[in-house]
Amino acid sequence: MNDSLRQNIVGIDTQVPTLDGGFKQYIFLDNAASTPTFQQVLSCINDFMPWYSGVHRGVGLKSKIATDIFDLSRKIIADFVGADLEENVVVFGKNTTEVINKLSNRLGINENDIVITTSMEHHSNDLPWRQHKNLIHIETDEDGFLKIDHLKKTLEEYKGKIKLVAISGASNITGIINPIHDIARWCHNVGGKIFVDAAQLAPHRKINILPNDDSEHIDFIAFSAHKLYAPFGTGILIAPKTIFENGAPDIVGGGTVKSVSLDEVHWANVPEKEEAGSPNVVGAIACAKAISILENFGMENIAKHELDLLEYAYKKIQNIPKITLYGPTSNLRNKVGVITFNVDGMFHSHVAAILSYEGGIGVRNGCFCAQPYVKNLLNISKEEEKILTDEIISGNKSKIPGMVRASFGCYNNYEDIDIFVEMLTKIVRKEFNGEYIQEKETGNFILSSEQKNFETQNFFTHFEN
Ligand code: ALA
Repeated sequence: MNDSLRQNIVGIDTQVPTLDGGFKQYIFLDNAASTPTFQQVLSCINDFMPWYSGVHRGVGLKSKIATDIFDLSRKIIADFVGADLEENVVVFGKNTTEVINKLSNRLGINENDIVITTSMEHHSNDLPWRQHKNLIHIETDEDGFLKIDHLKKTLEEYKGKIKLVAISGASNITGIINPIHDIARWCHNVGGKIFVDAAQLAPHRKINILPNDDSEHIDFIAFSAHKLYAPFGTGILIAPKTIFENGAPDIVGGGTVKSVSLDEVHWANVPEKEEAGSPNVVGAIACAKAISILENFGMENIAKHELDLLEYAYKKIQNIPKITLYGPTSNLRNKVGVITFNVDGMFHSHVAAILSYEGGIGVRNGCFCAQPYVKNLLNISKEEEKILTDEIISGNKSKIPGMVRASFGCYNNYEDIDIFVEMLTKIVRKEFNGEYIQEKETGNFILSSEQKNFETQNFFTHFEN
């Protein structure tokens, strides 16, 4: 069913060497970190490159064509989430992290305002808000769900003072999808606005931010092209134009002004005001092309396929002994394709290393840039956290908390899961061949010096003299 998407993935047939001396087809299960690119995105960029030129500056035909395509990309991206460009603006940055920082800098939050985020956020939707004095983290329960009672109580307690609720659309650890439209309504009822970090939601579900005057409207949203099969350095913030009217942009320079003298500066209109320097034209076009591929396929079809994969994978993994799973493992409709786990008695980075060296399988391990959430799911007490933190900052990461994560993209199939589950079963049974040692400084496991490590520079030879 997803064959057309699978065939569209650059590198889908890549063979990688494994410890046994042979080669295996690489199974990529780290799509929550970054997805591969679509072949059609590459073709689109190749077709555009002869027309490449700086945008909004030159008068040559190439510049005009590039500008029109760049502007059209903004419209395609806005339509992807139902944003009306009369009232809203698409601001490009380099990734979700950067545009959340922009929002935090530009929202005009003052010291009496309350900002609410949650304990399940990626650091990128937590740390940028910590510059504000009154930041509240809504708690999560042992399965990783947001405590809705805590959120509602907090909204009621600070009614009229809440500037923003900043929340993830879906978790990069448990895959849990938050009820963003309900939260928008509750938030608007007390005079606040909502920002949704949709980095993990946008690749998996149809998003509609709804009209600006709808009580369930999402006021601000951000996502990244590199998780949407277009890894060319583009992050997107969609926000009402009005929030950028006052004040200077957070980054200033070329392209941001109407007029400059030695005494004064008149800022340009949005989006130019908020996009200092020459923009990433290729990244924007790649993102728009990837979006049109996903939309042609149908986000509902993608959601359905990923749900089938999740159900299939959990059924199999639950039959393997000695596995601890985190987050919800049933009622998977409100969860994106992310499975996090640990193997009893084995360190997370050890498991990930064996999957890679012996299975040719790419996963991620660790805390996935969401340390508070992961520590909570791992049940680490404050006292234990303190001891671990002291060790880590002194340079010893050998006990760094974490999990192993397998995350699916729209192109993964049942066979990928079969191969992954087979390898995981071998690991649990200790049927692996490598001798691995842990590096204290990184916490990673590597093959012992007697065994062959793979020289990564052998795989990409463009930079050889
Ligand atoms: N946020 C990305 C992840 O979860 C990088 O892996």
